[in-house]
Amino acid sequence: MSLFLKGEISLPGDKSISHRAIIFASLSDGMCKVSNLGSGRDNRSTISILRNLGVTIKKQADTWLIKGVGLRGLKEPTNTLNAGNSGTTIRIMTGILSAQPFFSVLTGDKYLVKRPMKRIIEPLSMMGAKIYGRANNEYPPLAILGNNNLKGIDYKLKVASAQVKSSILLAGLYADGITTVTEPYLSRDHTERFMKYLNVPIRQEGFSTTITYTEHLPSFDLDVCGDISSASFFIVAATLLKDSDILIKNVGLNKTRTGILDVLTAMGADISLLNIHNRCGEPVGDIHVKGVTNLRGVTINGDIIPRLIDEIPIITVAAAFAEGTTVIDDAAELRVKESDRIKAMVTELKKLNINIEETESGMIIHGGNIPKFAKVKTYGDHRIAMSLSIFGLCSAKGVELDDKSSISVSFPQFFEKIKELTV
Ligand code: S3P
Repeated sequence: MSLFLKGEISLPGDKSISHRAIIFASLSDGMCKVSNLGSGRDNRSTISILRNLGVTIKKQADTWLIKGVGLRGLKEPTNTLNAGNSGTTIRIMTGILSAQPFFSVLTGDKYLVKRPMKRIIEPLSMMGAKIYGRANNEYPPLAILGNNNLKGIDYKLKVASAQVKSSILLAGLYADGITTVTEPYLSRDHTERFMKYLNVPIRQEGFSTTITYTEHLPSFDLDVCGDISSASFFIVAATLLKDSDILIKNVGLNKTRTGILDVLTAMGADISLLNIHNRCGEPVGDIHVKGVTNLRGVTINGDIIPRLIDEIPIITVAAAFAEGTTVIDDAAELRVKESDRIKAMVTELKKLNINIEETESGMIIHGGNIPKFAKVKTYGDHRIAMSLSIFGLCSAKGVELDDKSSISVSFPQFFEKIKELTV
């Protein structure tokens, strides 16, 4: 009998929500307890930066205790702050540091220092911060001379981005007057939901969010829901391995993140959602997936893209095993993620005998080719490494990855969880 996945698993906390939980707890007025915090290196980078800004953060058994210093209690760091591989950390922290009455420098690993930062430097400078970056203010390291007298702005983003939106909204908490951010499409709204949960005066209208000056954030306790981006690898694997039947417990089901469920369902996957409830302003539930035999290609473009931006590499794996053609478009943002994810997936899937074409802002995958074995490259990118691993699990021929170490950026338990589902 061929391989299939069976059983029930729970996943580590959502990476995006975990970053925000660490940040809001650090800026709150008291002691916060956070359990099931994301366990990857990215979330550790946020913890380490806030510790270097004077916040006491400790782990007791499975719970993180974060003693908030209040919105105005951060201290000037004595050294450079390192965001590691984490775009969310550097971009959101730049927003906060822009509003502090001190100097700080943010940097990251060899991948992060090549990611574009003008998109945050421009609006935060308009608010009154002084920020300098490498290569004519495009790349980190970022030197930030904060200003405790920021002014609110009305800013339109060219690309939907939760990192940029959150960076401006967090600076807006400190700014005089009103700050409004408008996106072309709605990106993940965890920052807005968290702020609402903490009673921050925030208003959403269409794709615009408005915030005003805030004095205090209350402390809170939170049990972070499982990460739908991590769940996606198992959802695709269970869909492709036909006798599979799995239940993934307590996953975040925020609409701005569930595009992958809509796409896989349209491709013919058997996915159902159970036990949906609310946790601190976020919908959470269990995902039940059964294997199928007849996935078909689909077109993915427009406003669904921000709802599945991190899942496109694993969606290309599903498309490779589907019948017919899948077209992915309007996803040029993929080129400035942890790696150029369009180029990475096209190059590596070609080595595995998949018929796939690169376009400027996406790719075209003609499903149905018989995969062959190949040694593949992961480009130091966790989502490329996990997507190619799932390809290997679902292909009769397997794959060999050049390096698995990037996986610990978001999901150190990835292989352990596969084992739990395959015994
Ligand atoms: C994130 C936002 C997205 C996403 C990233 C996490 C966040 O990035 O790709 O993995 O937590 O805000 P962009 O804001 O650049 O789209």
